Amino acid sequence: MAANYNSINNSQQGLQPHPYGAGDPYYAESTGYITPQTTPQKRGISNWIKIGVPVLIIVIVGAVVGGVVGSRAGNKNESSASSGGSAGGSAAHSPGASVDLANARFATATDSKYMLPLYPSTTAAAFTTPTFRPASDNVVTWPQDPFTPANPVPTSVRPDRPRLIAPSYKWDALPSLIAKDPYLKGWNDSIFANATDYFNKPPEVYFLDDDSGILDNAREIKMRLKAFAYVYRMTNDSRWVDRAWTELQNAAGNGTAPFGNDPNDRWNNQHFLDSAELSAAFGIAYDWLYDMWTPDQRDMIRTTMIRYGLQPGLSAYTDNASFGWWRNNITGNWNCVCNGGLTLGALAILGDDTTGVASQLLSFTIDNAKNNCAFGVTEDGSWTETANYWYFGTTGHAEMSAALISATGSHYGLLDTNPNFSKTGFYHMYVNGPGTLFDYGDHGPNKFSTTANSMFLYSSFYQQPQFALFQRDQHDAAEPWSMFWYDPSVAGAFWDGLPLDRFFDFGADQWASMRSSWTDENALFVAIKAGSNVNHQTHNDLDVGDFVLDALGTRWAGEFGSGDYNSPNYFASDSQDADRWKYYRKMTEGQNTVLIDRTNQLVTAAPTVNHNSSGTVQGASTVFTVPDDSTAYWTTDMSSAYSNSQSIKRGIRLLNKRRQVLLRDEISTSGTVDWLMHTNATVAASGTSATLTLDGQTMKISMMNPPGGATFTTGPAVRYSTDVKPPANDQPNPGVTTLSVTLPAGQYTLEMLFNPQWPGMKDSDFVTPPSVALDSWSLSSHN
Ligand SMILES: *[C@@H]1O[C@H](CO)[C@@H](O)[C@H](O)[C@H]1NC(C)=O
Ligand SMILES: *[C@@H]1O[C@H](CO)[C@@H](O)[C@H](O)[C@H]1NC(C)=O
Ligand SMILES: *[C@@H]1O[C@H](CO)[C@@H](O)[C@H](O)[C@H]1NC(C)=O
Ligand SMILES: *[C@@H]1O[C@H](CO)[C@@H](O)[C@H](O)[C@H]1NC(C)=O
Ligand SMILES: *[C@@H]1O[C@H](CO)[C@@H](O)[C@H](O)[C@H]1NC(C)=O
Ligand SMILES: *[C@@H]1O[C@H](CO)[C@@H](O)[C@H](O)[C@H]1NC(C)=O
Ligand SMILES: *[C@@H]1O[C@H](CO)[C@@H](O)[C@H](O)[C@H]1NC(C)=O
Ligand SMILES: *[C@@H]1O[C@H](CO)[C@@H](O)[C@H](O)[C@H]1NC(C)=O
Ligand SMILES: *[C@@H]1O[C@H](CO)[C@@H](O)[C@H](O)[C@H]1NC(C)=O
Repeated sequence: MAANYNSINNSQQGLQPHPYGAGDPYYAESTGYITPQTTPQKRGISNWIKIGVPVLIIVIVGAVVGGVVGSRAGNKNESSASSGGSAGGSAAHSPGASVDLANARFATATDSKYMLPLYPSTTAAAFTTPTFRPASDNVVTWPQDPFTPANPVPTSVRPDRPRLIAPSYKWDALPSLIAKDPYLKGWNDSIFANATDYFNKPPEVYFLDDDSGILDNAREIKMRLKAFAYVYRMTNDSRWVDRAWTELQNAAGNGTAPFGNDPNDRWNNQHFLDSAELSAAFGIAYDWLYDMWTPDQRDMIRTTMIRYGLQPGLSAYTDNASFGWWRNNITGNWNCVCNGGLTLGALAILGDDTTGVASQLLSFTIDNAKNNCAFGVTEDGSWTETANYWYFGTTGHAEMSAALISATGSHYGLLDTNPNFSKTGFYHMYVNGPGTLFDYGDHGPNKFSTTANSMFLYSSFYQQPQFALFQRDQHDAAEPWSMFWYDPSVAGAFWDGLPLDRFFDFGADQWASMRSSWTDENALFVAIKAGSNVNHQTHNDLDVGDFVLDALGTRWAGEFGSGDYNSPNYFASDSQDADRWKYYRKMTEGQNTVLIDRTNQLVTAAPTVNHNSSGTVQGASTVFTVPDDSTAYWTTDMSSAYSNSQSIKRGIRLLNKRRQVLLRDEISTSGTVDWLMHTNATVAASGTSATLTLDGQTMKISMMNPPGGATFTTGPAVRYSTDVKPPANDQPNPGVTTLSVTLPAGQYTLEMLFNPQWPGMKDSDFVTPPSVALDSWSLSSHN
């Protein structure tokens, strides 16, 4: 048949102009698929171009059924709290009654700055209770896997290929699913577009970077091979196989350009993530294109994978190779990615492998991941490292689990040995604000190919429809794993019935997530943490009490993220005297918290927390009116994080229908006090008030009942401490202002009232809260 990618033009795609036009950074000039041989396209076609029309349908139907419709452009000028519409929950729950869900995607576009989905503003109950629809509902979904071994063992694989993640029965079903499901259809289109983009690029050029070795190379190659193999299987056009072979040859060091200098270690074993990702890449290509390879090609792929990936991986287990540190009690992304990559590679070649390496590896990786990777999720669902590292850890975990299930019929406990693993989908949802993540600690490497699509696998396995409903509107959903993990019988709105607040109490992180809406990009969002300052795989900061604050479509109090991963001793230790804690971004003074004596917090900190919430849930509508008594608060006694202090307590709460925020600190110390907040806003501070402007919006902060001498000051984001020198220079933080209040030793109550200047909200609409001791806070204490 004719190659699809060669013949597509705009009219066939029915592409519509991007709703935001050429000013939007994600607007794609070219709207057709290019042929592999012609002009390379810088960026694939935005998903969102294709969704304009269905959303319009929803809005129109909404106008008829629900009565109130706000256009997205209009909504820019409304706050979530002041926008009109029916109260959440009042809409009728009748899935699909008013809208042809089968032809619609919810989100209209992505926020151009943060890439999070934008939802149409309508009170129509187009989307209701999250559910998996029964087959009787005329739903297309996956057939049963015919391979159901009674006693699964890791070395006994299914008879047919592919065996990794996407068995043939799934490929067979896919076209009919794509035809009926708008999400699958959109993702399939994007994967084709992306694959076409990669097709035209030269094979990945080897680049060993100081920070992360050849990890970006490895992930790029894996991403490309997945896309090439996917498009081949969807078209039977052998040019995709040839292009995949070129990429494999290149990564084996057999291409036209060198791939590393060391013929004995081309995959950078010392940074084993790289070797593991390339093992996964080779495994997927070997398996998905199995029938297309000649016996010689198979031998070559296997030889290379074993030499550079699997054999070194086995040495990590059997010979205590120095690069195998990740297998010793490492409950973080390294354990998941390394075991996952080795497992995919090993499963792919089982039966063909004459060396025994593959089956030996499986005798180690599965148990090891079960004991470590699976406990990267703590008992409240939080990821042990950071919100950003969640992506890497869960991707490795999900790939490994899915591959074991498809290839051998079991996940061997990887998905349920930790009974609390399922909560991690909620962790991911709640750690996302209306703009971006509560991005505490290190942000990790480039996420160009690592996604949150594990949410689809977890949604099905744990029967949590919200996870899939949340993820399917995200920009990173268009990727081959989604095609096989997404269950198209899922329906509803993830926000329908979802509480606005959630508290994560386990001692490792102890954090809170509170917001005014799940579907308004301008919503108010506060996230704050206490937790332990150690045992996060050295990815955390000394940040007890640290918070972020979003409102009006932007972030007012934010994070610095990663320091320079290549700076000396950055990861060496998390003990009190560790060099890591001498880098500004990791020090306490680089956080939005209280600094005492201009000295770091203690790594022995063991804070306690208290909290409560009105338990407000959003309803079916995307337009949500916050009820009058809706509020939430979270307090911590963080005294144990400080020396020279009798007591340091902090609390934060939402006021006035979640339109204002109060942050209160009760401090008793013999050290100097600095109250600190970092912002990208332009700050005009005067006395006890500060006016922040950013992205055309305004936030006012005022100090309530200020203690004598307390005034705001502003300065660049640089260290106070000149006596503590880091072993290398800090990164600059251009554009960031530190808003601070400095006081001598003493006893203080500092109360900061944050008033986002919501459009249409008069001065008299803001409340002035009473002063209430943290120990006396309750849901009604500030009424
Ligand atoms: C893949 O395609 C999507 C949608 O067209 C695009 O947003 C994304 O940037 C592409 N990804 C890559 C890695 O090119
Ligand atoms: C997948 O997308 C490609 C490119 O848009 C298209 O040609 C193909 O028909 C799609 N596959 C299915 C099964 O719809
Ligand atoms: C590709 O070939 C297989 C095996 O012959 C066949 O079952 C499948 O329908 C073909 N797919 C396409 C898109 O032509
Ligand atoms: C690359 O070349 C080496 C040495 O000839 C060979 O052992 C290996 O199988 C080749 N691998 C690939 C993928 O071509
Ligand atoms: C690897 O290290 C462990 C713990 O130190 C030790 O018990 C084991 O014997 C070592 N194994 C090999 C093969 O050296
Ligand atoms: C891993 O942790 C367990 C339980 O805490 C401990 O018994 C074991 O010695 C640790 N192993 C290594 C290699 O550190
Ligand atoms: C799972 O979480 C519950 C509390 O939510 C806790 O009691 C239990 O110990 C946790 N289990 C594990 C294995 O962490
Ligand atoms: C400033 O903006 C950058 C880019 O969006 C962001 O990464 C960073 O977290 C922001 N910093 C603060 C302190 O908000
Ligand atoms: C939360 O508030 C409700 C309503 O006032 C109250 O009944 C409940 O005891 C409070 N819970 C906590 C943990 O304070």
